[in-house]
Amino acid sequence: MPPTGSVADSEFLDERVPVELGPRSYIVRVGNRRLDAFGSFVRQALDRSWAGRTSRTALVVTDSNLTALGLHSAYEAALSAAGIEPVTVLVPPGEGSKSLAGAAKLYDALVAFKADRHTAIVALGGGVIGDLAGFVAATYARGLPLVMVPTTLLAQVDSSVGGKVGINHPAAKNIIGAFHQPVGVWIDTGALDSLPLREVRCGLAEVVKYGVIMDAPFFADLERDARAILARDPRALLHIVGRSCRLKAQVVAQDEREESGLRAILNFGHTVGHAIETVAGYAGEFQHGEAVAAGMVAESRLAERLGWISPDAIERLVRLLDRFGLPTSAPGLDREHLLEAMSRDKKNRQGKIRFVLPRAIGRVETTDAASEEDVRAMLAELVSLSAPETPLSRGQIE
Ligand code: GLY
Repeated sequence: MPPTGSVADSEFLDERVPVELGPRSYIVRVGNRRLDAFGSFVRQALDRSWAGRTSRTALVVTDSNLTALGLHSAYEAALSAAGIEPVTVLVPPGEGSKSLAGAAKLYDALVAFKADRHTAIVALGGGVIGDLAGFVAATYARGLPLVMVPTTLLAQVDSSVGGKVGINHPAAKNIIGAFHQPVGVWIDTGALDSLPLREVRCGLAEVVKYGVIMDAPFFADLERDARAILARDPRALLHIVGRSCRLKAQVVAQDEREESGLRAILNFGHTVGHAIETVAGYAGEFQHGEAVAAGMVAESRLAERLGWISPDAIERLVRLLDRFGLPTSAPGLDREHLLEAMSRDKKNRQGKIRFVLPRAIGRVETTDAASEEDVRAMLAELVSLSAPETPLSRGQIE
Protein backbone atom coordinates (compact mmCIF):
# COMPACT_ATOMS: atom_id res chain seq x y z
CA MET A 1 0.00 0.00 0.00
CA PRO A 2 2.34 2.76 -1.11
CA PRO A 3 1.09 6.12 0.14
CA THR A 4 0.19 8.24 -2.82
CA GLY A 5 -1.01 11.58 -1.46
CA SER A 6 -4.62 12.57 -1.86
CA VAL A 7 -6.77 10.30 -3.90
CA ALA A 8 -10.22 10.99 -5.33
CA ASP A 9 -12.96 9.63 -3.05
CA SER A 10 -14.44 7.72 -5.95
CA GLU A 11 -11.37 5.48 -5.95
CA PHE A 12 -12.11 4.19 -2.48
CA LEU A 13 -13.95 1.01 -1.84
CA ASP A 14 -15.66 0.57 1.48
CA GLU A 15 -14.14 -2.16 3.62
CA ARG A 16 -16.54 -4.31 5.59
CA VAL A 17 -15.11 -5.96 8.68
CA PRO A 18 -17.40 -8.61 10.19
CA VAL A 19 -17.44 -9.13 13.95
CA GLU A 20 -18.54 -12.77 14.25
CA LEU A 21 -20.58 -13.20 17.41
CA GLY A 22 -23.40 -15.54 16.39
CA PRO A 23 -26.74 -13.76 16.80
CA ARG A 24 -24.92 -10.59 17.92
CA SER A 25 -22.71 -10.43 14.77
CA TYR A 26 -22.34 -7.07 13.05
CA ILE A 27 -20.41 -5.19 10.40
CA VAL A 28 -17.80 -2.50 10.94
CA ARG A 29 -17.82 -0.39 7.79
CA VAL A 30 -14.55 1.46 7.22
CA GLY A 31 -14.70 4.01 4.43
CA ASN A 32 -14.04 7.56 3.42
CA ARG A 33 -16.98 9.97 3.36
CA ARG A 34 -19.91 8.60 1.24
CA LEU A 35 -22.32 9.77 3.91
CA ASP A 36 -25.24 9.21 1.58
CA ALA A 37 -24.79 5.47 2.21
CA PHE A 38 -25.12 5.88 6.00
CA GLY A 39 -28.94 5.66 6.09
CA SER A 40 -29.07 2.38 4.20
CA PHE A 41 -26.20 0.97 6.32
CA VAL A 42 -28.19 1.69 9.50
CA ARG A 43 -31.42 0.34 7.97
CA GLN A 44 -29.71 -2.92 7.04
CA ALA A 45 -27.91 -3.18 10.40
CA LEU A 46 -31.25 -2.77 12.21
CA ASP A 47 -33.07 -5.16 9.90
CA ARG A 48 -30.45 -7.85 10.54
CA SER A 49 -30.65 -7.36 14.32
CA TRP A 50 -33.37 -8.32 16.78
CA ALA A 51 -34.70 -4.73 16.47
CA GLY A 52 -35.85 -5.54 12.95
CA ARG A 53 -37.82 -3.54 10.45
CA THR A 54 -40.07 -1.90 13.05
CA SER A 55 -37.17 0.30 14.17
CA ARG A 56 -38.17 3.70 12.78
CA THR A 57 -36.79 6.24 15.30
CA ALA A 58 -33.30 7.12 16.53
CA LEU A 59 -31.79 9.22 19.29
CA VAL A 60 -28.56 10.71 17.95
CA VAL A 61 -26.15 11.46 20.82
CA THR A 62 -23.36 13.88 20.01
CA ASP A 63 -21.48 16.91 21.39
CA SER A 64 -20.95 20.54 20.46
CA ASN A 65 -17.53 19.81 18.87
CA LEU A 66 -19.34 17.77 16.24
CA THR A 67 -22.27 20.14 15.78
CA ALA A 68 -19.81 23.07 15.32
CA LEU A 69 -18.51 21.18 12.28
CA GLY A 70 -22.09 20.73 11.05
CA LEU A 71 -21.52 16.97 10.87
CA HIS A 72 -24.65 15.84 12.69
CA SER A 73 -27.07 17.39 10.17
CA ALA A 74 -25.69 15.24 7.34
CA TYR A 75 -26.13 12.11 9.47
CA GLU A 76 -29.68 13.19 10.44
CA ALA A 77 -30.58 13.74 6.79
CA ALA A 78 -29.23 10.31 5.82
CA LEU A 79 -31.31 8.67 8.60
CA SER A 80 -34.49 10.51 7.56
CA ALA A 81 -33.97 9.46 3.95
CA ALA A 82 -33.83 5.84 5.14
CA GLY A 83 -37.15 6.17 7.00
CA ILE A 84 -35.64 6.58 10.48
CA GLU A 85 -36.84 9.68 12.34
CA PRO A 86 -33.87 11.21 14.25
CA VAL A 87 -33.84 13.40 17.35
CA THR A 88 -30.45 14.80 18.38
CA VAL A 89 -29.30 15.31 21.98
CA LEU A 90 -26.14 17.25 22.76
CA VAL A 91 -23.95 16.34 25.72
CA PRO A 92 -21.10 18.61 26.85
CA PRO A 93 -17.76 17.48 25.39
CA GLY A 94 -15.31 15.86 27.81
CA GLU A 95 -14.91 12.99 30.27
CA GLY A 96 -17.24 14.76 32.78
CA SER A 97 -20.25 13.66 30.70
CA LYS A 98 -19.44 9.97 31.31
CA SER A 99 -21.34 10.09 34.60
CA LEU A 100 -24.63 8.99 36.14
CA ALA A 101 -25.86 12.57 35.64
CA GLY A 102 -24.86 12.41 31.97
CA ALA A 103 -26.73 9.12 31.57
CA ALA A 104 -29.79 10.55 33.38
CA LYS A 105 -30.02 13.36 30.81
CA LEU A 106 -30.19 10.80 28.02
CA TYR A 107 -32.80 8.69 29.85
CA ASP A 108 -34.89 11.89 30.20
CA ALA A 109 -34.54 12.53 26.47
CA LEU A 110 -35.63 8.97 25.67
CA VAL A 111 -38.71 9.29 27.92
CA ALA A 112 -39.60 12.68 26.37
CA PHE A 113 -39.14 11.15 22.91
CA LYS A 114 -41.48 8.25 23.87
CA ALA A 115 -38.76 5.81 22.86
CA ASP A 116 -39.67 2.15 22.64
CA ARG A 117 -37.47 -0.95 22.58
CA HIS A 118 -36.91 -0.51 18.87
CA THR A 119 -35.63 3.07 19.05
CA ALA A 120 -32.01 3.09 17.95
CA ILE A 121 -29.26 5.01 19.73
CA VAL A 122 -26.73 6.51 17.33
CA ALA A 123 -23.47 7.47 19.12
CA LEU A 124 -21.84 10.14 16.96
CA GLY A 125 -18.51 11.26 18.44
CA GLY A 126 -15.40 10.12 20.27
CA GLY A 127 -14.87 7.61 23.06
CA VAL A 128 -16.86 9.55 25.68
CA ILE A 129 -19.96 9.68 23.46
CA GLY A 130 -19.67 5.99 22.51
CA ASP A 131 -19.19 4.81 26.10
CA LEU A 132 -22.01 7.00 27.50
CA ALA A 133 -24.55 6.50 24.72
CA GLY A 134 -23.65 2.79 24.64
CA PHE A 135 -24.26 2.49 28.39
CA VAL A 136 -27.67 4.14 28.01
CA ALA A 137 -28.45 1.83 25.07
CA ALA A 138 -27.49 -1.18 27.23
CA THR A 139 -29.74 -0.17 30.12
CA TYR A 140 -32.81 1.71 28.80
CA ALA A 141 -35.74 -0.67 28.42
CA ARG A 142 -33.20 -3.50 29.05
CA GLY A 143 -31.37 -2.75 25.85
CA LEU A 144 -31.84 -0.65 22.71
CA PRO A 145 -30.12 -1.20 19.34
CA LEU A 146 -26.89 0.80 19.20
CA VAL A 147 -25.10 2.20 16.15
CA MET A 148 -21.58 3.49 16.70
CA VAL A 149 -20.30 6.35 14.54
CA PRO A 150 -16.82 7.04 15.99
CA THR A 151 -15.20 10.28 14.87
CA THR A 152 -11.81 10.15 16.64
CA LEU A 153 -8.98 7.80 15.74
CA LEU A 154 -8.97 6.29 19.24
CA ALA A 155 -12.69 5.51 19.05
CA GLN A 156 -12.43 4.21 15.47
CA VAL A 157 -9.65 1.72 16.23
CA ASP A 158 -10.65 0.68 19.75
CA SER A 159 -13.67 1.72 21.80
CA SER A 160 -16.39 1.57 19.11
CA VAL A 161 -15.73 -2.11 18.37
CA GLY A 162 -16.27 -4.89 20.91
CA GLY A 163 -19.24 -3.85 23.04
CA LYS A 164 -17.58 -2.42 26.14
CA VAL A 165 -19.72 0.52 27.29
CA GLY A 166 -19.76 2.38 30.58
CA ILE A 167 -19.55 5.47 32.70
CA ASN A 168 -17.19 6.61 35.47
CA HIS A 169 -17.68 6.60 39.24
CA PRO A 170 -15.94 9.58 40.89
CA ALA A 171 -13.52 7.04 42.42
CA ALA A 172 -12.86 4.83 39.36
CA LYS A 173 -12.94 5.11 35.58
CA ASN A 174 -15.33 2.88 33.55
CA ILE A 175 -16.39 0.98 36.68
CA ILE A 176 -20.15 1.11 35.92
CA GLY A 177 -20.76 -0.62 32.62
CA ALA A 178 -21.89 -3.50 30.47
CA PHE A 179 -21.10 -5.56 27.40
CA HIS A 180 -23.56 -4.36 24.77
CA GLN A 181 -22.58 -5.03 21.17
CA PRO A 182 -23.62 -2.48 18.58
CA VAL A 183 -25.77 -3.59 15.62
CA GLY A 184 -23.31 -1.80 13.32
CA VAL A 185 -20.27 0.48 13.37
CA TRP A 186 -19.95 3.16 10.69
CA ILE A 187 -16.42 4.58 10.37
CA ASP A 188 -15.68 7.55 8.14
CA THR A 189 -11.92 8.20 8.12
CA GLY A 190 -12.73 11.59 6.54
CA ALA A 191 -13.79 12.69 10.05
CA LEU A 192 -10.11 12.52 11.05
CA ASP A 193 -9.20 15.46 8.78
CA SER A 194 -10.42 17.96 11.37
CA LEU A 195 -9.16 16.08 14.45
CA PRO A 196 -6.52 17.95 16.53
CA LEU A 197 -3.04 16.49 15.91
CA ARG A 198 -2.63 15.47 19.55
CA GLU A 199 -5.76 13.30 19.28
CA VAL A 200 -4.47 11.68 16.11
CA ARG A 201 -1.23 10.82 17.93
CA CYS A 202 -3.20 9.37 20.86
CA GLY A 203 -5.12 7.06 18.52
CA LEU A 204 -1.85 5.99 16.92
CA ALA A 205 -0.67 4.58 20.26
CA GLU A 206 -3.49 1.99 20.08
CA VAL A 207 -2.70 1.31 16.41
CA VAL A 208 0.96 0.60 17.28
CA LYS A 209 -0.31 -1.66 20.06
CA TYR A 210 -2.08 -3.94 17.54
CA GLY A 211 1.20 -4.35 15.65
CA VAL A 212 3.09 -5.34 18.79
CA ILE A 213 0.48 -7.71 20.20
CA MET A 214 -0.47 -9.63 17.07
CA ASP A 215 0.73 -8.41 13.68
CA ALA A 216 4.43 -7.89 12.94
CA PRO A 217 3.84 -7.10 9.21
CA PHE A 218 1.38 -4.37 10.26
CA PHE A 219 4.04 -2.94 12.60
CA ALA A 220 6.40 -2.80 9.60
CA ASP A 221 3.67 -1.02 7.56
CA LEU A 222 3.48 1.62 10.28
CA GLU A 223 7.25 2.10 10.17
CA ARG A 224 7.11 2.43 6.39
CA ASP A 225 4.07 4.75 6.28
CA ALA A 226 4.62 6.89 9.41
CA ARG A 227 5.03 10.09 7.43
CA ALA A 228 1.92 9.49 5.27
CA ILE A 229 -0.13 8.59 8.36
CA LEU A 230 0.81 11.82 10.15
CA ALA A 231 0.04 13.76 6.98
CA ARG A 232 -3.41 12.03 7.05
CA ASP A 233 -3.03 10.52 3.63
CA PRO A 234 -6.50 9.03 2.97
CA ARG A 235 -5.19 5.64 1.85
CA ALA A 236 -2.83 5.39 4.81
CA LEU A 237 -5.68 6.18 7.24
CA LEU A 238 -8.01 3.63 5.64
CA HIS A 239 -5.29 0.99 5.92
CA ILE A 240 -4.50 1.56 9.59
CA VAL A 241 -8.13 1.89 10.70
CA GLY A 242 -9.28 -1.12 8.63
CA ARG A 243 -6.48 -3.39 9.84
CA SER A 244 -6.87 -2.30 13.49
CA CYS A 245 -10.62 -3.04 13.38
CA ARG A 246 -9.98 -6.44 11.77
CA LEU A 247 -7.48 -7.35 14.50
CA LYS A 248 -9.76 -6.20 17.27
CA ALA A 249 -12.72 -8.05 15.71
CA GLN A 250 -10.63 -11.24 15.68
CA VAL A 251 -9.90 -10.94 19.41
CA VAL A 252 -13.46 -10.00 20.39
CA ALA A 253 -14.93 -12.88 18.35
CA GLN A 254 -12.84 -15.34 20.37
CA ASP A 255 -13.28 -13.81 23.82
CA GLU A 256 -16.26 -11.45 23.79
CA ARG A 257 -16.53 -10.98 27.55
CA GLU A 258 -12.86 -11.18 28.50
CA GLU A 259 -13.29 -14.61 30.05
CA SER A 260 -10.63 -16.81 28.41
CA GLY A 261 -7.87 -14.24 28.90
CA LEU A 262 -7.36 -13.62 25.17
CA ARG A 263 -9.10 -10.21 25.15
CA ALA A 264 -6.71 -9.15 27.93
CA ILE A 265 -3.91 -8.92 25.34
CA LEU A 266 -5.55 -5.64 24.28
CA ASN A 267 -4.30 -4.36 27.64
CA PHE A 268 -0.65 -4.35 26.54
CA GLY A 269 0.81 -1.02 27.71
CA HIS A 270 -2.29 -0.32 29.79
CA THR A 271 -1.15 -1.71 33.17
CA VAL A 272 1.55 0.96 33.40
CA GLY A 273 -0.50 3.33 31.19
CA HIS A 274 -3.50 3.42 33.52
CA ALA A 275 -1.15 3.97 36.48
CA ILE A 276 0.44 6.93 34.66
CA GLU A 277 -3.03 8.39 33.96
CA THR A 278 -4.03 7.94 37.60
CA VAL A 279 -0.86 9.48 39.01
CA ALA A 280 -0.61 12.30 36.47
CA GLY A 281 -4.35 13.01 36.84
CA TYR A 282 -6.91 12.19 34.17
CA ALA A 283 -7.23 15.75 32.94
CA GLY A 284 -3.51 16.31 33.13
CA GLU A 285 -0.33 16.03 31.24
CA PHE A 286 -0.93 12.53 29.84
CA GLN A 287 -3.88 11.74 27.65
CA HIS A 288 -4.87 8.06 27.47
CA GLY A 289 -2.92 7.29 24.26
CA GLU A 290 0.18 9.08 25.55
CA ALA A 291 0.10 7.11 28.80
CA VAL A 292 -0.34 3.87 26.83
CA ALA A 293 2.66 4.77 24.63
CA ALA A 294 4.95 5.27 27.64
CA GLY A 295 3.39 2.17 29.22
CA MET A 296 4.16 0.00 26.18
CA VAL A 297 7.83 1.00 26.36
CA ALA A 298 8.03 0.38 30.11
CA GLU A 299 6.32 -3.03 29.80
CA SER A 300 8.63 -3.97 26.89
CA ARG A 301 11.63 -3.10 29.06
CA LEU A 302 10.18 -5.36 31.75
CA ALA A 303 9.95 -8.14 29.13
CA GLU A 304 13.61 -7.52 28.31
CA ARG A 305 14.49 -7.95 32.00
CA LEU A 306 12.73 -11.34 31.89
CA GLY A 307 14.81 -12.27 28.83
CA TRP A 308 11.69 -12.31 26.59
CA ILE A 309 12.48 -9.69 23.97
CA SER A 310 15.58 -8.22 22.32
CA PRO A 311 16.76 -4.64 22.82
CA ASP A 312 16.51 -4.20 19.03
CA ALA A 313 12.76 -4.81 19.11
CA ILE A 314 12.37 -2.23 21.88
CA GLU A 315 14.46 0.20 19.90
CA ARG A 316 12.05 -0.21 16.94
CA LEU A 317 9.07 0.46 19.22
CA VAL A 318 10.67 3.56 20.76
CA ARG A 319 11.65 4.89 17.34
CA LEU A 320 8.13 4.43 15.92
CA LEU A 321 6.41 6.06 18.91
CA ASP A 322 8.91 8.89 18.71
CA ARG A 323 8.15 9.42 15.03
CA PHE A 324 4.46 9.62 15.95
CA GLY A 325 5.35 12.27 18.58
CA LEU A 326 4.29 10.04 21.47
CA PRO A 327 6.06 9.92 24.84
CA THR A 328 8.22 6.90 25.64
CA SER A 329 8.83 7.76 29.30
CA ALA A 330 7.14 9.62 32.16
CA PRO A 331 9.92 11.65 33.79
CA GLY A 332 9.36 12.84 37.33
CA LEU A 333 6.24 10.81 38.25
CA ASP A 334 6.20 9.26 41.73
CA ARG A 335 7.28 5.58 41.57
CA GLU A 336 5.50 4.54 44.76
CA HIS A 337 2.23 6.04 43.56
CA LEU A 338 2.62 4.25 40.22
CA LEU A 339 3.27 0.93 41.99
CA GLU A 340 0.23 1.47 44.21
CA ALA A 341 -1.98 2.25 41.20
CA MET A 342 -0.70 -0.86 39.36
CA SER A 343 -1.43 -3.07 42.36
CA ARG A 344 -5.14 -2.20 41.89
CA ASP A 345 -5.18 -3.36 38.23
CA LYS A 346 -8.16 -5.60 37.45
CA LYS A 347 -5.96 -8.29 35.83
CA ASN A 348 -4.11 -8.97 39.11
CA ARG A 349 -4.55 -12.31 40.87
CA GLN A 350 -3.60 -13.25 44.45
CA GLY A 351 -1.72 -10.03 45.07
CA LYS A 352 0.57 -10.38 42.03
CA ILE A 353 0.62 -7.78 39.26
CA ARG A 354 -0.20 -9.41 35.92
CA PHE A 355 1.27 -7.92 32.76
CA VAL A 356 0.79 -8.52 29.06
CA LEU A 357 4.38 -8.60 27.80
CA PRO A 358 5.89 -8.98 24.32
CA ARG A 359 7.92 -12.03 23.30
CA ALA A 360 8.66 -10.31 19.97
CA ILE A 361 7.05 -7.65 17.79
CA GLY A 362 3.77 -9.40 16.90
CA ARG A 363 3.43 -11.71 19.93
CA VAL A 364 2.51 -11.15 23.60
CA GLU A 365 1.74 -13.32 26.62
CA THR A 366 0.08 -12.62 29.95
CA THR A 367 2.35 -13.29 32.93
CA ASP A 368 2.75 -12.71 36.64
CA ALA A 369 6.41 -13.78 36.53
CA ALA A 370 7.86 -10.29 37.10
CA SER A 371 9.31 -9.90 40.61
CA GLU A 372 8.72 -6.76 42.65
CA GLU A 373 12.40 -5.94 42.10
CA ASP A 374 11.94 -6.11 38.30
CA VAL A 375 8.82 -3.96 38.47
CA ARG A 376 10.59 -1.37 40.65
CA ALA A 377 13.56 -1.28 38.26
CA MET A 378 11.16 -0.78 35.30
CA LEU A 379 9.45 2.11 37.10
CA ALA A 380 12.80 3.71 38.01
CA GLU A 381 13.70 3.72 34.32
CA LEU A 382 10.24 5.02 33.30
CA VAL A 383 10.35 8.06 35.60
CA SER A 384 14.08 8.80 35.36
CA LEU A 385 14.69 12.47 34.64
CA SER A 386 17.54 11.49 32.34
CA ALA A 387 15.19 9.38 30.19
CA PRO A 388 15.05 10.73 26.65
CA GLU A 389 12.44 13.51 26.57
CA THR A 390 10.58 12.14 23.56
CA PRO A 391 7.62 14.53 23.56
CA LEU A 392 10.20 16.94 22.05
CA SER A 393 9.25 15.74 18.65
CA ARG A 394 5.57 16.56 19.21
CA GLY A 395 4.33 19.11 16.75
CA GLN A 396 6.77 18.02 14.04
CA ILE A 397 5.66 16.13 11.01
CA GLU A 398 8.95 14.52 10.28
N1 GLY B 1 -10.14 -1.60 24.93
C1 GLY B 1 -9.94 -2.94 25.32
C2 GLY B 1 -11.09 -3.84 25.00
O1 GLY B 1 -12.01 -3.45 24.30
O2 GLY B 1 -11.12 -4.96 25.46
